[in-house]
Amino acid sequence: ASGEESGTPLAGRSVLVTAGGTREPLDPVRFLGNRSSGKQGAALAAAAARSGARVRLIAANVAAEVIAELPGTVTVEHVETTAELQAAAEAAQPDSDVVIMCAAVSDYRPAEVAAHKMKKEGDAGLRLELVQNPDILAGLVRTRAPGQLIVGFAAETGSPDAGIEQLARAKLLRKGCDLLVLNDVSAGQAFGTESNSVILYARSGDTVTEVARASGTKAEVSQKVISGLVSVLDR
Ligand code: CTP
Ligand code: CA
Repeated sequence: ASGEESGTPLAGRSVLVTAGGTREPLDPVRFLGNRSSGKQGAALAAAAARSGARVRLIAANVAAEVIAELPGTVTVEHVETTAELQAAAEAAQPDSDVVIMCAAVSDYRPAEVAAHKMKKEGDAGLRLELVQNPDILAGLVRTRAPGQLIVGFAAETGSPDAGIEQLARAKLLRKGCDLLVLNDVSAGQAFGTESNSVILYARSGDTVTEVARASGTKAEVSQKVISGLVSVLDR
């Protein structure tokens, strides 16, 4: 039976997943970070492994309890900063048929990292200068080999000017990846919780189409995302 029939549609494929959130050091004891737990990325890695793929997970500051629940076949590499995540993702890209950029990447990092713990000066406040981090996903899109499928994520809250679906469609076109998973994070949903609500979009040229919607546990949502991804791979 083919992998499709046996329930392992990703048999023979290798999948790279990034998960968690990058941290940018300010000094030896402090960092700029975000609320990503890495649970959604870990659930995607597990779902890809259950679908028969060889899976490599690049984990940015993901708790040991989350890593412990992964299938033993998933290879895990731990990173902390955006620069480390970028180096790890670029190194693994050539061996991957599918890249899933689920990690929450810090858009900025401190312009300078203090070598020693920063001390207060009297009762003065503090201004930090930040510089923008490179866009890892956009870089992977530029350097990919033909046939590699690249999946981006967008966590959006929406604003009075733009709804989340409009923002996601525009982001997919801007990033140039093949698929985008929109995660509704309005009202603090998603971060650190067990459940999620997503819409999966696919891009073909300048056209964006909705492939699937899923709500439920991060495992259930991941299974749907992997199924949607398989349908696009088989096109
Ligand atoms: N991403 C990335 N490198 C960055 C920022 C984001 O690879 N420096 C990836 C994320 O992993 C995600 C996708 O890009 O897959 C979208 O991230 P998001 O933060 O939603 O998009 P940005 O382009 O950073 O736009 P903004 O935060 O301004 O909405
Ligand atoms: Ca961002």
